[in-house]
Amino acid sequence: MPGMRLDKILTHLNCGSRREVAAWVRAGRVTVDGQTVRDPAYKADPDLAALTLDGRALCYRAQRYYMLNKPAGVITANRDGRHQTVMELFPENERKGLFAIGRLDKDTEGLLLITDDGALSHALMAPGRHVQKLYEAVCDGELAPDAEARFHEGLTLGDGTVCRPAALEIVRDAPALTVRVTLCEGKYHQVKRMLKAVGAEVTALKRLSIGALGLDTSLASGAYRPLTEAEIALLRPSEGLAAATSTKK
Ligand code: URA
Repeated sequence: MPGMRLDKILTHLNCGSRREVAAWVRAGRVTVDGQTVRDPAYKADPDLAALTLDGRALCYRAQRYYMLNKPAGVITANRDGRHQTVMELFPENERKGLFAIGRLDKDTEGLLLITDDGALSHALMAPGRHVQKLYEAVCDGELAPDAEARFHEGLTLGDGTVCRPAALEIVRDAPALTVRVTLCEGKYHQVKRMLKAVGAEVTALKRLSIGALGLDTSLASGAYRPLTEAEIALLRPSEGLAAATSTKK
């Protein structure tokens, strides 16, 4: 079978030294396409084989793309003296070169993209691109009757910050007011501040999607997985992203 030795693939993935990874393979810690493989010389296609180490998916690409279901209480940073960071949810040997695309507040949960692809990050974050992000918020208080219209028009916050037009949808009124907000920009605490401006205090916030890419609902809080090729394509400006960017006002 054409391909590359399993121990060599794992070494290229920065999993460990050739000797270490060979020992892990012999110990039955590695699967290839769902099967445990105990022969370090086993040949696999590094671009196509689905590999796991101790049950965690490994991604063999020049660049790495992960979807993380960020838990509340963890900060979006590579390192922090006091708090756990999103990067610390990844094993140490996978962290090198990775960063989060954009940021979520410490108490916000949900979809966070982690990659080492600076170009993709720029494409998603560039102010002119207006990539839509969908959030679900649980709130205290009551929305002003004109809240949806004010979001739609683009409201101005108390400190004079002008927000682009956004969508506001009420998911349910009870037991707690739950709304969905779609933004095409990412100002500081934007969802919380916009909702506060129309009478609602956010008590829990979760990001559900970025562009056409939705959070995998089977991903437990704090878990991550590599994006599929189809999901990566959804984020590229020439493909799915175009369909999920808002028109400029
Ligand atoms: N808006 C917020 O207020 N917080 C976030 O984390 C993201 C968007």
